[in-house]
Amino acid sequence: MYRKAIIFLTFFVIFFISCYVIVGSVDIRSYFFPLLQSQPISSSPCAAEPPLRVYMYDLPRRFNVGILNRRNLDQTPVTASTWPPWPRNSGLKRQHSVEYWMMGSLLHEDSGDGRDAVRVMDPENADAFFVPFFSSLSFNSHGRNMTDPATEVDHQLQIDLVKFLSESKYWQRSKGRDHVIPMTHPNAFRFLREQMNASIQIVVDFGRYPKAMSNLGKDVVAPYVHVVSSFIDDNPPDPFVSRKTLLFFQGKTFRKDDGIIRVKLAKILNGYDDVHYERSAATEKSIKTETLHHLVGSLMQL
Ligand SMILES: *[C@@H]1O[C@H](CO)[C@@H](O)[C@H](O)[C@H]1NC(C)=O
Ligand SMILES: *[C@@H]1O[C@H](CO)[C@@H](O)[C@H](O)[C@H]1NC(C)=O
Repeated sequence: MYRKAIIFLTFFVIFFISCYVIVGSVDIRSYFFPLLQSQPISSSPCAAEPPLRVYMYDLPRRFNVGILNRRNLDQTPVTASTWPPWPRNSGLKRQHSVEYWMMGSLLHEDSGDGRDAVRVMDPENADAFFVPFFSSLSFNSHGRNMTDPATEVDHQLQIDLVKFLSESKYWQRSKGRDHVIPMTHPNAFRFLREQMNASIQIVVDFGRYPKAMSNLGKDVVAPYVHVVSSFIDDNPPDPFVSRKTLLFFQGKTFRKDDGIIRVKLAKILNGYDDVHYERSAATEKSIKTETLHHLVGSLMQL
C-alpha cells in the first residue's frame, strides 16, 4: 500500500512540480538557467523528458522522520533502508502527510523508468532543491496547543532550518527561489514563514497567507492525503442499486469564516431521506468506523 501511495504521489505531486516547472507561469529552468531558454519546448511538456533533477538536503532526523518516533534519537539522515512506515494510528495527521510521501518518493529510487523527478547527489546538477522538513507534522506534534511550551520545539526547528538554509550556497544563490518546501498545514512554519516567501511551497490553498508569501505564480497546490482507507472491494453485481444513500457528508458544518457554503448546504439538504448530512467532529474513531461504513454505502460524497 505504501508503495502504491508513493507511486501515486510521485505521479501527482512531482508531476505537478515538473509540469509546473516546464509549462507553469514561472519557468524555473529559464529563470535560473537563462542559457537554456533558447531550447524548444517539447510538444508534450508534461512527459517530463528529461525528468526534473532534484537535490535533497541531508537534514538530521529531528526535522523529518524523527518527529514520527521521538524515542529514536539517531540524527543521521534517513535513507531508503531506514525509512519508517507511516504510522497506522496517525488519524487526521495523515491528511498533511504529503511531506512524508514526497521525501519517500525521492529516497526510493527503484520505482523504474518514467519518473518525473529524479534525485541527484550533486547539487551542481540540480534543477530544484527539496527541503525535507516535516513542517506540518512538527506543528501537529509540537505546536498543537498554540500556547503550549512544547511549541518552542516547533519554533526552534524553524529557526535551525532557516539558519541551515541561509548558510547553503545554493539557497544564497537563488534566495530560495528554486527550493521546494512542503507546508500544507495552514500553521506549518508559522513563526518564520515569511523567510520562505520566495520558495516554492507545497500548500493546500492560499487562504491564510499574504500574496507575497504564497501564490499560484510560484507555489504548488497538493491535495490532502485521504484519511480513510481505500475501498477496493466495490464490485457487487449492481453497485448503483446497492448504495442506498444518495449523498453523504459528515464533518464540521461550522468552520472558520462561518463555513458559509456548508451552512447553506445543511439547510438545503435537510430532511431528505437519502441524504446523510451530519455535523460531527472528525476523530480517529469516527474516521475508521462510521465514516467508512457510510461512505461505502453512498453514491456521492461531499
Ligand atoms: C495549552 O498549554 C498550556 C500550558 O501547558 C495550558 O495552560 C493550557 O491549558 C493548554 N490549552 C489547551 C487548550 O490545551
Ligand atoms: C514576505 O512577505 C510578507 C507579506 O507580504 C512581507 O511582509 C515580508 O516582508 C516578506 N518577507 C521577506 C523576508 O521578504
